[in-house]
Amino acid sequence: MSSVGILGGTGPAGQGVAIRLASAGYDVVLGSRDAVRATGVAAELTPRGAGSVSGAANEGAARCDVVIVATPWDSAVATVSALRESLTGKIVISMVNALSREGRELVPLYPPRGSMAAQIAHALPNTMVVGAFHHLPASEMVGLDSGLDADVIIFGDDESARESVARMVESMPGLHAVIAGTMSLASAIEAFTAVCISINIRHKAHSYVKLAGLSH
Ligand SMILES: NC(=O)c1ccc[n+]([C@@H]2O[C@H](COP(=O)([O-])OP(=O)(O)OC[C@H]3O[C@@H](n4cnc5c(N)ncnc54)[C@H](OP(=O)(O)O)[C@@H]3O)[C@@H](O)[C@H]2O)c1
Repeated sequence: MSSVGILGGTGPAGQGVAIRLASAGYDVVLGSRDAVRATGVAAELTPRGAGSVSGAANEGAARCDVVIVATPWDSAVATVSALRESLTGKIVISMVNALSREGRELVPLYPPRGSMAAQIAHALPNTMVVGAFHHLPASEMVGLDSGLDADVIIFGDDESARESVARMVESMPGLHAVIAGTMSLASAIEAFTAVCISINIRHKAHSYVKLAGLSH
């Protein structure tokens, strides 16, 4: 089983993905700008399964076999660019959404290359960037008893990297992998997160994406 590092893994999104990955047997390293903070956050997570969650500086997380980017959108490119050497040749998963709050709604922002996944891919030319986990509410991810039964929409230009991420997602409790296609879908998939969060604010809910008509 491979190791997974999460850049910005101390936030709600990183913690939610970490606990489900560890419950699937992965050894997860929560990355942070502050290794002591990451160690403390990791110690609070109690996965059920053979895997583990530990904490480290983002540099340590970037040394894992697969690396997830879970920082705020406006620090994602700077964070990965500083770690370019460690990330070379690896699958890098972006779950980053560029969003802005406007009253009771979230609205999508469009980075120069159309999406955060494309921004990260441009910053890391020698990696295989795959998008996943964008629409999952962290609150439902972190609680292993939340009854989560969500689809995870996956995209990227490298077919084998997409398949590899899909296998990882399928192994995580409560999640099903749905490969959507290439990086050309990234802006639509990321922007749809604004719709999901706005629905949750309006309806005081923690809903998530579950596509009808697919046979898993
Ligand atoms: N929250 C969700 O439900 C959810 C669901 C799906 C996708 N996402 C996406 O996942 C990403 C993380 O979401 P989140 O809610 O966990 O965000 P967050 O709590 O705001 O940030 C995550 C972590 O990023 C690090 N960070 C903050 N500012 C930074 C900076 N300027 N430079 C480098 N690192 C910084 C912090 O870790 P340290 O202080 O320890 O370094 C923080 O704990 C976002 O892009 C979001 O759109 C979120």
